[in-house]
Amino acid sequence: MEHPMKNEILPMRQALLKRLNDSELKKWLRDYAMPYKELMAYYRCAMMEVETKFNVLNEELSLAYDRNPIETIKSRLKSPESIVDKAARKGLPLTIDSIEKNIRDIAGIRVICSFPSDIYMLADCLLSQDDITLIERKDYIEHPKPNGYRSLHLIVEIPIFLHNQKRLMKVEVQLRTISMDCWASLEHKIFYKKNVQDAQRVEQELIACAELAQQLDSRMERIYRETLGDQPASIDAELG
Ligand code: GTP
Ligand code: MG
Repeated sequence: MEHPMKNEILPMRQALLKRLNDSELKKWLRDYAMPYKELMAYYRCAMMEVETKFNVLNEELSLAYDRNPIETIKSRLKSPESIVDKAARKGLPLTIDSIEKNIRDIAGIRVICSFPSDIYMLADCLLSQDDITLIERKDYIEHPKPNGYRSLHLIVEIPIFLHNQKRLMKVEVQLRTISMDCWASLEHKIFYKKNVQDAQRVEQELIACAELAQQLDSRMERIYRETLGDQPASIDAELG
């Protein structure tokens, strides 16, 4: 049998070592190790549910559009270290209830779309499903962050069905185009945990890159729409 300290608990213990003294840590592990493992399992289930919803939409919409609106889907569970750091930053007690109630991005799904319009279409499709509840919507495409970051962020609640209960879980969904994802990944690499020299110039450069990425998205979508204009004619031709 798998050792109970393996997987979630060992890294969580490491993360807690920074914040709790010996006896607090012992008490935390005694009271919360199992509930924490359970909670993480529930989040994994919720991620699977949301990911499946997007896979189903991608499959079905590919029939209507003759192309897949989704390029890739990535999902991640927030690391114990990030959970503990975020709880500390927000001044939250390190109980399981408080973590679940206050940290809404433990389960995260990133949906990389082909064109900007696909983002809104997919978000609408997801949100119109009757088991999905929208908790928060942040449109950083309509209103980019000052550094140039663009994406559509949703916090949704979704039920998972366990053997003896139904549980509502929160999932953060980030929808972006390939260009938005390219910018965000590289910006993160450039700035993450680094003391960047000449930060102001780098920030200006990144804003300029974000504008380029936005132009690329607009032009690609326009080209795509132009090619669509031809389609009915070619279908007519095919049908004779
Ligand atoms: P967090 O405490 O970080 O979750 O902030 P928040 O609750 O205000 O959430 P927000 O919706 O602004 O951002 C959440 C997530 O979006 C982050 O964890 C990143 O994955 C992504 N994100 C937001 N801003 C940026 C940014 O400037 N650069 C990059 N690369 N990613 C970002
Ligand atoms: Mg976050």
